[in-house]
Amino acid sequence: NPEVFILAIESSCDDTAAAILQNDKVLSNVVANQLIHNQYGGVVPELASRAHQQNIVPVVDAALRKANIQKEQLSAIAFTQGPGLMGSLLVGSSFAKSMAVALQIPLIAVNHMQAHVLAHFIEEDGFDKPSFPFLALTISGGHTQIIKVANFFDMTVIGETTDDAVGEAFDKSAKILGLPYPGGPLIDKYAQLGNPKAFAFTKPKVPGLDFSFSGLKTAILYFIQKKKLENPNFVDENLNDICASIQHTIIEILMDKLKLAVKETGIKQIAIGGGVSANSGIRNTLKEAENKYGWKTFVPKFEYTTDNAAMIGIVGYQKFLTQTFETSSVVSKARIQL
Ligand code: KG4
Ligand code: ZN
Repeated sequence: NPEVFILAIESSCDDTAAAILQNDKVLSNVVANQLIHNQYGGVVPELASRAHQQNIVPVVDAALRKANIQKEQLSAIAFTQGPGLMGSLLVGSSFAKSMAVALQIPLIAVNHMQAHVLAHFIEEDGFDKPSFPFLALTISGGHTQIIKVANFFDMTVIGETTDDAVGEAFDKSAKILGLPYPGGPLIDKYAQLGNPKAFAFTKPKVPGLDFSFSGLKTAILYFIQKKKLENPNFVDENLNDICASIQHTIIEILMDKLKLAVKETGIKQIAIGGGVSANSGIRNTLKEAENKYGWKTFVPKFEYTTDNAAMIGIVGYQKFLTQTFETSSVVSKARIQL
């Protein structure tokens, strides 16, 4: 087989990313984070597209340079078609189209949610790949999905959030506690020092495999408001226990649904992805589930869990093998099914 070199571009939200893959191996994986959003407590779409426009050329240049690849060696260019913020997607797709036309090489459109799942197929020392079929749990600031994966491009969403994503549940809880955005990693940090059973929060009652996190946020808000009336220093004095209890509740919500998904599908391989899979509590709980329930669990290398272009590249490589190419009239889509 000849070597395939893919340039992949990801610009669906607030990170501008480019990667070079040689077949299923990552030669470079560059991400420019947009820290500007932190001061607003969330991603501001208008600022995101502007920052993508500033970052895209330097980020692609850096990816080529780090991979030690000339653009003339590229076999194809893959880009994120959606879902995501339209203004952000347009920067990546326009750039990918122009470059593919200029180099006269194929253009490949990639579904960002498929990419989170297929990130597990990047060849990486020390990381096993799941075999088909498996269940994928994608958890990030924008997504919460359980997906049944029958094959590379045969995926079905069997459960998803009806309101907030898991990452939002972490970040909004953190905000209530007065922690800076994004607060998910801080909750994780303090939770490691606290008692997960110190405070109990009611879990939402959502039928089937779907999730809801907005009720939990409200429950936490009322709980903190009430406790602060009794003791204005309640949060400061109990931060570790509060964080541990919030994290414990979120993990229980996720685990309840995963157990149900395993029961309903009979599939015991679970592959997680998305930025929230960095959470140490979630990682430990999944590891324990291997012995406890006989599951086999997969967590990709950290840099392939948060939004990145390497995962776009691995989908690009799979599509290259089947010659699934687009013309330059392909359009970006803010919403797109699996
Ligand atoms: O995948 P990601 O980098 O960006 C997208 O949302 O697509 O995920 C970011 C989310 C944020 O909500 C952040 O608070 C959360 O992942 N997060 C964590 C941890 N690290 C990142 N949440 C809990 N524990 C963590 N260790
Ligand atoms: Zn994502």
